[in-house]
Amino acid sequence: MIETERLLIRYLDQEDIDRLVTYRNKPEVARYQSWNHYSRFEAKGRIRYVQKHPYTGKPKDNTQLAITLKNGTLIGDLHLEVLNRNTVTIGYTLDSTYWGQGYGREAVRGLLEALKEFPQRKVIAYIYRQNDRSRKLLLDLGFHKFDESSFYDDEGYILRLDEEGS
Ligand SMILES: CC(C)(COP(=O)(O)OP(=O)(O)OC[C@H]1O[C@@H](n2cnc3c(N)ncnc32)[C@H](O)[C@@H]1OP(=O)(O)O)[C@@H](O)C(=O)NCCC(=O)NCCS
Repeated sequence: MIETERLLIRYLDQEDIDRLVTYRNKPEVARYQSWNHYSRFEAKGRIRYVQKHPYTGKPKDNTQLAITLKNGTLIGDLHLEVLNRNTVTIGYTLDSTYWGQGYGREAVRGLLEALKEFPQRKVIAYIYRQNDRSRKLLLDLGFHKFDESSFYDDEGYILRLDEEGS
């Protein structure tokens, strides 16, 4: 459990399915993501996996965390995957009802703080080049661009957890 000023971050559980599927299928939320339609079947399977595999920071570990308000309302989720002993990749999805209030940044900042407890010191995130909101979030948190591909239409951003100010 990660606690920030306004949010709680925890593993997803089966009670999150309805909310998860609802906001992940909003067109503006799915627009720059890897899915067109996010099914209940997929959500169920993912949550079952997450519940069985607690995150330990070992290579290939991956998980999905719920972002909730302090009253328990699920407003988004975070993805975490260990690429190797130095690097972890993150992804984030917020229900558009809650955009523009600083929740995305607050959640990712909380996650970065928690990641300091694990061995990986490099955090990376890939975004589609048109995803201006996501780029703003990453730059605001101190990430900088290290990769760009016109073939995949994406950009990679990196943050070193031991850099000053992160
Ligand atoms: C990427 C995403 C999380 C960003 O959401 P967001 O609402 O723009 O970002 P934040 O929640 O950090 O909010 C930042 C905005 O809140 C404003 N804000 C309001 N109150 C604030 C507060 N207390 N603290 C910080 N910012 C605040 C900021 O000024 C900023 O406004 P601006 O965008 O006009 O500059 C969201 O757009 C999203 O989930 N998109 C779909 C999924 C996606 O594309 N994910 C990325 C691929 S991995």
